[in-house]
Amino acid sequence: MKSFKPNPWLVPQPVLIIGTYSKDGIPNAMNAAWGGQWDMNQVVISLGVHQTTDNLAEKSAFTLTFATEKTMVASDYVGMESGRKVANKIERTGWKVEKAPNVDAPLFKDFPLTFECRVKRKIDESDTGYYLVGEIVNILCDEACLDAEGNPDLSKMDLIAFDPIGHHYMKLGDILGKAFSIGLQLK
Ligand SMILES: Cc1cc2nc3c(=O)[nH]c(=O)nc-3n(C[C@H](O)[C@H](O)[C@H](O)COP(=O)(O)O)c2cc1C
Repeated sequence: MKSFKPNPWLVPQPVLIIGTYSKDGIPNAMNAAWGGQWDMNQVVISLGVHQTTDNLAEKSAFTLTFATEKTMVASDYVGMESGRKVANKIERTGWKVEKAPNVDAPLFKDFPLTFECRVKRKIDESDTGYYLVGEIVNILCDEACLDAEGNPDLSKMDLIAFDPIGHHYMKLGDILGKAFSIGLQLK
């Protein structure tokens, strides 16, 4: 086994897109990999200082969506360009935008699954950012990406993951087995 110094290499990481409105109602999006589920109805995301954090301070609301193969190029773009510098950042993505139904944040219609969230807590806030805890108030899923029971079906979404070691986006693969079930054969 080869040893490495500590690195942010928890893998795979999500490709989260955070959608916010500025105080003037201009939609913005940023890419975030350092986020995850926090309790049943909350998410946590490690944030630097961005146009997004300016917007969160104004609106206390955001959408959180999951990048797909089709949205990969623009998802990477919104992770490299700041709305602080480029006012029409979202126009460049080509994404269809409308107001989310339950929070004051933009809904990007090109993505199959979106959480509508409100800012719940900011942890360890400093000049360099904070850990955002968001309360999920509603989840929206494209009707075309539902399974037979009417639940979101990840196998229909072409989601991508982030490889923080090689800095690649990777496509999620095939279903291999049923969780909380396949291991029962060893019990
Ligand atoms: C793959 C990837 C992952 C990123 N993850 C994070 C993250 O977890 N937290 C963060 O604050 N910025 C992250 N960024 C950087 C922001 O997306 C970037 O600074 C963006 O330009 C901010 O946009 P804004 O100023 O318009 O809000 C990531 C960027 C990329 C490309």
